[in-house]
Amino acid sequence: MPLPPVKVLFDENRIAARNRELANEIADVRPEKLLVIAVLKGSFVFAADLIRALHASGQAPEVEFLHLSSYRDATVSSGQVDILRDVESDVRGRDVLLVDDILESGRTLAFAKDLLAARGARKVMVCVLLEKPGKRAVQVEPDFVGFECPDLFVVGYGMDVAHAFRQLPFIGVVEGLD
Ligand code: IMP
Ligand code: MG
Repeated sequence: MPLPPVKVLFDENRIAARNRELANEIADVRPEKLLVIAVLKGSFVFAADLIRALHASGQAPEVEFLHLSSYRDATVSSGQVDILRDVESDVRGRDVLLVDDILESGRTLAFAKDLLAARGARKVMVCVLLEKPGKRAVQVEPDFVGFECPDLFVVGYGMDVAHAFRQLPFIGVVEGLD
């Protein structure tokens, strides 16, 4: 079935260039025993590219996955965060880098940050590909931000609407969605 057209907001080259810069910014803080935790599902493409950019910046992170859900099939946050799949590693004494696709209300990342701090991580840093300004419901400051995102529902590069569009190599807006 053909999908509706998607207008490009951030193309592949722009994303790749920004990933290299982000990896350098992260390397500059000289993390110790770095554990990258990709918050699933939306961040999986970004995290895959970012860890390879981190390698190019001289870092050797371990990688974990934390599957959280606050959205289900809707395009508005339900406000509740559930752990669908937990990390397997012990985070005690580690420098953790939480990697997520979008920071919007902040509920998902505030929940994840508190969880890992409570488990004894030495430091919990947050890296988001996109930040939607003015949408915060809870206080959470990202340490590394890829791009500021307009207040639109975006898809692609791992991000979905109702499970579709994750495969797009760019970030865009579905035309005629509203
Ligand atoms: P928050 O808890 O409100 O900050 O929600 C962040 C999560 O909502 C992100 O990790 C995404 O999974 C999802 N999300 C927020 N805005 C968008 C969007 O425009 N497109 C796709 N997913 C989104
Ligand atoms: Mg997400």
